[in-house]
Amino acid sequence: MLSKTPPMGFNTWNTFGENINEKVIMETADAMVEKGLLDAGYNYLVIDDCWSEKERDPETGKIVPDHIKFPNGMKYVSDYVHSKGLKFGMYSCAGTKTCAIYPGSFDHEFLDAETFAEYGADFLKYDFCFVPQGANGPLLYRKMGMALKACGREILFSACNWGSDNVNTWIRSTGAHMYRSTGDINDSFVSMKDIALSQVDNLAYSAVGCFNDIDMLTIGMYGKGNVGSTGCNDIDYKTQFTIWCMYSAPLMLGGDIRTFSEDTLKLVTNKILLRINQDEEARPAFIVDDGGKRKVFAKHLSNNEIAIMCVNFGDNDEGANIYFENLGIPAASGYGLEMTDVYTGECIGVKKEFLRLPVAAHDCQCFICKLAK
Ligand code: GAL
Repeated sequence: MLSKTPPMGFNTWNTFGENINEKVIMETADAMVEKGLLDAGYNYLVIDDCWSEKERDPETGKIVPDHIKFPNGMKYVSDYVHSKGLKFGMYSCAGTKTCAIYPGSFDHEFLDAETFAEYGADFLKYDFCFVPQGANGPLLYRKMGMALKACGREILFSACNWGSDNVNTWIRSTGAHMYRSTGDINDSFVSMKDIALSQVDNLAYSAVGCFNDIDMLTIGMYGKGNVGSTGCNDIDYKTQFTIWCMYSAPLMLGGDIRTFSEDTLKLVTNKILLRINQDEEARPAFIVDDGGKRKVFAKHLSNNEIAIMCVNFGDNDEGANIYFENLGIPAASGYGLEMTDVYTGECIGVKKEFLRLPVAAHDCQCFICKLAK
């Protein structure tokens, strides 16, 4: 089964935008392996928009890779990516054009799916720009879902309609394995916060087989690249990564992996956070304490563990309250939680009934916990 757990990998858009080419992809593939990201589970390398010529081949009707960016064609790049043990991802759009105005797959769904299979693609991100007026959104995704089933290759279907048409209510029925629920992220705390808060009521719509995709990560961008914006600092990135893990969201890196620092690598390969994200039951996090911009989330994991995250989306330092009663652990039970800090690995002991934790502006605390007396 594809998408047993949230897909992980890298996507070119956040950093490179239209500045993609064979060299960037091959160097990124090398870096994913050399820096231990493949070993940590980041196995898809996805080429986003702007990879093709502006027109289809007039004779075959096929989309054609840009001959300057990809002089050896796409199979060559895909073979290289596969030779590194990675999986290869492509991008197209349900409309007549992609968002950056390259050919879209509208009315060419089966031909394009076959073309991607010929390239050796394992993943297709499918966008939603230039959809003809009156077209039925769900049907467009159903068509590509069928085309991918027919193409003779197992291809992970990554839908991207930014949450339109109440996507979470029908997207699983199209065969999609993940779906974008939000508009585009940029590398600022505000953008990340708005995206995170917009999905608080939709956490149950991310489950085994089809995960709620809250967009590619901006971790490690520090304001550089296609969606650079104001940039973020390491505290902001720590909160971003922890939220994505708590939400069972796909983890698609968007920073330039070739330049990732040790600190960035340490964050995105944190074993406990990845365990929380990749937990086989993919249970939704629930809110234990809602202070508006300051929230406490808890998430059941498969081995009797519980993850707890206190996050402060606000700009002032605050304290977060954990009432164990709200976690389902009443005082009368005698139970509390043995709590281990996911970043330091330090166990802070067994806590019961009530715990107040300081959370600095933009920061978070996160623990992996076991019931204990
Ligand atoms: C947007 C999409 C982005 C990126 C971009 C490419 O619609 O949300 O993630 O793929 O198109 O043009």
